[in-house]
Amino acid sequence: MTEGPIVILTGAGISAESGLGTFRDADGLWTKYRLEDVATPEGYAKDPALVLDFYNARRENCVGASPNAAHSALARLERARGDVLLVTQNIDDLHERAGCTDVVHMHGEIMAALCARCGNRRPWEGRMCLTDVCPECGMDGRNRPDVVWFGEMPYHLDRIYSAVTNCGLFVAIGTSGSVYPAAGFVSEAAAAGAETLEINLEPSETASRFDRQIYGPATETVPAWVDQLVGG
Ligand code: OAD
Repeated sequence: MTEGPIVILTGAGISAESGLGTFRDADGLWTKYRLEDVATPEGYAKDPALVLDFYNARRENCVGASPNAAHSALARLERARGDVLLVTQNIDDLHERAGCTDVVHMHGEIMAALCARCGNRRPWEGRMCLTDVCPECGMDGRNRPDVVWFGEMPYHLDRIYSAVTNCGLFVAIGTSGSVYPAAGFVSEAAAAGAETLEINLEPSETASRFDRQIYGPATETVPAWVDQLVGG
């Protein structure tokens, strides 16, 4: 049994086998769209309809997808140990639907709306369009998905850094290690004395910073790793 709390960081790779595309793999989203156009405040200011459509498609895919064995294994780990913090870069809700109760969405959530005028946040299931009216400030044309874009500050960083620098084990699952600050968590954890483990399909950009690596599809590697920690 690992000593000390566990912090797990997940990325798009954990949801890949649920049918949700990753960003930087061969057929990833950033090979089909320019991230400057659809995932920046400037892109939204220039063409909000294009941005809303991009995320409407992401939301539709998310609603149609189901959690896979890797999401379920992490929910089992959370139930078996009281000291696991799950931080995700993913905007989908597959961790929650697998049964995880405390998921820190550092890049926001596709199933939520944010009013760009007054900051009102609310759950959102259907399509978003320019005529949506904010129930708080009454403005239309300012509805956006509650996701973090490039150039914006990720959410919950105080809680995340506190957990990362006080854990016994830091694990990154299904992330390419190319977007900061998440890509830097492994170094922060290691500097504070934690053991570090990468679980990914193949070596990430930050693979050499981890003490240990396990490579293969998440639906196989993650359940096997959880079995080792807490039994099958
Ligand atoms: P990436 O698309 O950059 O990386 C996905 C990683 O998952 C790669 O290292 C793949 O090798 C791995 N992978 C693919 N299939 C896998 C599988 N079946 N099992 C295990 N691993 C698999 O996605 P992220 O690292 O999550 O941010 O991207 C980080 C951020 O960049 C995202 O949150 C998003 C994006 O731009 C914003 O939009 C702000």
